[in-house]
Amino acid sequence: MTSRTPIIAGNWKMHNTIAQAAELVTALAKVENKNNAEIIVAPSYPSLNIATRLLKDTPIQVAAQDVHWEDKGAFTSAVSAGQAKDAGATLTLIGHSERRSVFGDTDEILNKKVAAALRHGLKVIFCVGETLQEREANKTLEVVEGQLKNGLAGFTAEQLNGIIIAYEPVWAIGTGKTATPDQAQEVHAAIRSYLTKTYGAAFGAATRILYGGSVKDTNVDEIMAKEDVDGALVGGQSLIAEKFARIINFNK
Ligand code: PGA
Repeated sequence: MTSRTPIIAGNWKMHNTIAQAAELVTALAKVENKNNAEIIVAPSYPSLNIATRLLKDTPIQVAAQDVHWEDKGAFTSAVSAGQAKDAGATLTLIGHSERRSVFGDTDEILNKKVAAALRHGLKVIFCVGETLQEREANKTLEVVEGQLKNGLAGFTAEQLNGIIIAYEPVWAIGTGKTATPDQAQEVHAAIRSYLTKTYGAAFGAATRILYGGSVKDTNVDEIMAKEDVDGALVGGQSLIAEKFARIINFNK
């Protein structure tokens, strides 16, 4: 950990009814936050609005899980960045590995989604990560760097100011297998050095890089202890208030 303000974000994926979402955010609103972390929850679209309304007087921020790249039009089932913002989101995930692998979001599509989010003033949590096959072929750093290069192509440091990067090895998501703290640190350091090289020293030093992939109440402390790990993007355990509360209050 460094002086960068830590971020603990919960990605609810396709879970929770509106009533369950309301119950969860109401519980989270009461949780102590001893590290003064930025806390983010990413409900699915139907619960964005209730979550925002219930969290209005709290520091907890609400993110969308994805946005479409167009502002409006004949895109059945899609939700635009403007609509997500209207529902109360101030951030959005872009490039989650489930979007990449299940829905076929390519680097080019993700690049357009980043543009749409920024156009509407949504902060971006841009997700990258390698598959097991890529890791075993020693391609992790190359893959992650390629995802950053292509996904963020064409934007200046000024436009990307405040972007959050989430490193989520695909083989660790929802599998119970977590990257070791050293594996996470190695990739986080490489991401930071890529950001420094591409956008300058101040940008590299200020950008928060989150680790995601089976973060739990039992492993968060050792992961957060690593120098270039600035936070966590949590799936499964973010659905359980007590578990997520423990993750928010990681021990330094
Ligand atoms: P997990 O999900 O914590 O359930 O592994 C993380 C994520 O997909 O963001």
